[in-house]
Amino acid sequence: MRSYTLISPAKINLYLEIISDRPDGYHELAMVLQSVGLTDQIDLRSLSTESIQVHCDHPLVPSDKTNLAYRAAELMAAEFPQAFAQYGGVAININKRIPVGAGLAGGSSNAAAVLMGIDLLWHLGLTQSELQELAAKIGSDVPFCIAGGTALATGRGEQLSPLPNLEHPWVVLGKYRNLAVSTPWAYQTYRQKYISTYVSDADSLEVRRQRVHSGAMVNAIFKKDQVKIGQLLHNDLEKVVLPEYPQVLRLREAFYEAGVLGAMMSGSGPTVFALSESEAKAQQVQQHVRKSIPEPNLDLWVAPFTTAGIRVVAH
Ligand code: C5P
Repeated sequence: MRSYTLISPAKINLYLEIISDRPDGYHELAMVLQSVGLTDQIDLRSLSTESIQVHCDHPLVPSDKTNLAYRAAELMAAEFPQAFAQYGGVAININKRIPVGAGLAGGSSNAAAVLMGIDLLWHLGLTQSELQELAAKIGSDVPFCIAGGTALATGRGEQLSPLPNLEHPWVVLGKYRNLAVSTPWAYQTYRQKYISTYVSDADSLEVRRQRVHSGAMVNAIFKKDQVKIGQLLHNDLEKVVLPEYPQVLRLREAFYEAGVLGAMMSGSGPTVFALSESEAKAQQVQQHVRKSIPEPNLDLWVAPFTTAGIRVVAH
């Protein structure tokens, strides 16, 4: 029997622009994604039977097919039936620290870890791009979670161009424990309100994509200009989530009052993150926000940017 332990980091969106509708029902996006050192631990163990078992220490994380980690194992079994029969199934244990339903791609990152772990358990020798192709079948953020670091993502979010590693800014993350935002709700509401801004022809779509490739945020990342990166944070989904959830807006304001490089909601929220120049500054910001919002349901974390995606730590 063999086992692997993998570390699965959260991601934040430094930039999220919604460009148009897609024929597949998703949205055409332009995003800058960044891995952060707020991580889950995934333990994978071979089983002697052809079954998939998921266990998580967090009460809100399901053990069935609605869990992306389960779907990742199921996909591997379907794609590689001989290996599944030869090496048996897999028991997946998720030690959860990344908040759930938070806009931090926790579930997607866990699924990416399962794909990489099963590749190792079953000696498949898949390349990173082969793993990312499988990952795209599970969810839009899963391909990014495989490689991690800093990347520009277009299409549904699965077309990735790596960007230079950013090591310096530290991030403070805040999320109310009792608050979750549905990602489909956020995108549907955006569509209802802003459909008139969507581009509808292929040329305009290409122009918008290219604009992000050569845009101010990407330039700031190449120059590693933390101040500019902080000023250029952008997320179109804030336009629908902040009016609906005033606590999220209040949290964002509290970060700015604490003196940060920039603060923004991540993904479809409700997590808000703020960038700081150093670990010490990030800790001061955390204390300041804790005092200004004395709400027992507000969780805060301090984490570094990380340059890696999924990491194997033991086998
Ligand atoms: O791909 P994933 O399952 O993570 O997406 C969750 C939901 O977010 C989708 O069902 C869709 O409503 C929305 N979405 C979208 N366009 C994208 C990514 C996600 O509309 N590019």
